[in-house]
Amino acid sequence: MKNLDLQSQIQLLKKEKNALILAHNYQIGPLQDIADYVGDSLGLAYEAQKSDADVIAFCGVHFMAETAKIVNPDKIVVLPDLDAGCSLESSCPAPELQKFIDDNPQKNYFVVAYINCSAAVKAIADVICTSGNAVKIVNQVPKDRNILFVPDANLGAWVIEQTGRPMDLWQGSCYVHMEYTADSIQSIKDKHPSALLVAHPECPTAVRMLADEVCSTEKMISYCKNSESSTFIIATENGMLHRLEKECPDKVFIPAPTHNCACSECKFMKLNTLEKLRDCLVNLSPQVAITPELCNQAEASLLKMLEQSK
Ligand code: 13P
Ligand code: SF4
Repeated sequence: MKNLDLQSQIQLLKKEKNALILAHNYQIGPLQDIADYVGDSLGLAYEAQKSDADVIAFCGVHFMAETAKIVNPDKIVVLPDLDAGCSLESSCPAPELQKFIDDNPQKNYFVVAYINCSAAVKAIADVICTSGNAVKIVNQVPKDRNILFVPDANLGAWVIEQTGRPMDLWQGSCYVHMEYTADSIQSIKDKHPSALLVAHPECPTAVRMLADEVCSTEKMISYCKNSESSTFIIATENGMLHRLEKECPDKVFIPAPTHNCACSECKFMKLNTLEKLRDCLVNLSPQVAITPELCNQAEASLLKMLEQSK
C-alpha cells in the first residue's frame, strides 16, 4: 500500500473498513474531492443519519462529527484532527448556559441551539437548527414561549429579521465571519459593481445588509447555479470556492476580503489533511466519544430538528 498515492490508499481503506467519508464545504479541495458527500451542516447530518457504513470519517470540525455520533451511537466516528474546534461552540459552555437558564426562571425559555455547539448544549436545548433551516425551525416554536437562541448572535439577529419573532440572543460569534467589515466588503463591491454579494448569516449585520443573498453554504451552490448573474463575491470561508467553481465552471467567484486579509480561512477546518484522513482510517483513531447518557439527551433536540426540517 505504501507505493500507492494518498488518494488510492484512502480509497482502499474506505472499502476495507466499510467507511463513509463526509466533508464540509470548507474543507480543502483534495478532501472534498475524495469524499462520498460534501455539504453543509444540515446535509451532513442527514447523510450521517441514513448511513449504513461501519465507520464515518468526518472531514469537518468536532461538533459536526459529534452530531454524526449522536445519530449513530453504535458506529465508529473518526475525525482526522481532534483539535478541529469551533469558536461558536467554545463561546457557549454548557454550565454557563444552564446557569443563565436557572437564573431566569420567569422566562421559561424555549432554547433553540444552532448546531455549532457541544453535545452538552444540544442536551439542554429544546431544538437544534442550522443556518439552512433556522427560519423554518424558529417558525415552529410554540407562540407562547420566550426563545433563547444560542450561541450565534449574528445568525440569531438575521432569524429575528426573517421571522419577526423576538428572541434573546446568546452573544457568541464565529471568529472567521467576524473579520468581514462593511468597509472591506464595500471596497470589493466597488471593484466589481455588477457582481452579486452572497454572505453567510454568521456575518455581522453591517455586512449582511450589503448582501444580495444571505444563506447557508449549501444554498450558496443552488443560488449561484440558478442566478442569471455570472460573477459573485462570496463572504464566507475560502473552502467554499472550490465547490462553487467545480459546480458552476462557467461563473466567476471572488472571495470577499476581510479587514486584514484577501480572503477568510477557518483555522479549525484547515487542520484536516489527506494524510490525517488516511491515518485515521488506518488506526480508527482519533474517535469522537460521547457517553451513552449524553448521547441520549442530545439526540432528542437533534431528531426534532431533522423531523421539523423535512
Ligand atoms: P453551514 O451549515 O452553512 O455549512 O455552516 C457551517 C459553518 O460552520 C459556518 O461557519
Ligand atoms: Fe466555527 Fe466559524 Fe470555523 Fe464555522 S467557520 S467551524 S463557525 S469557527
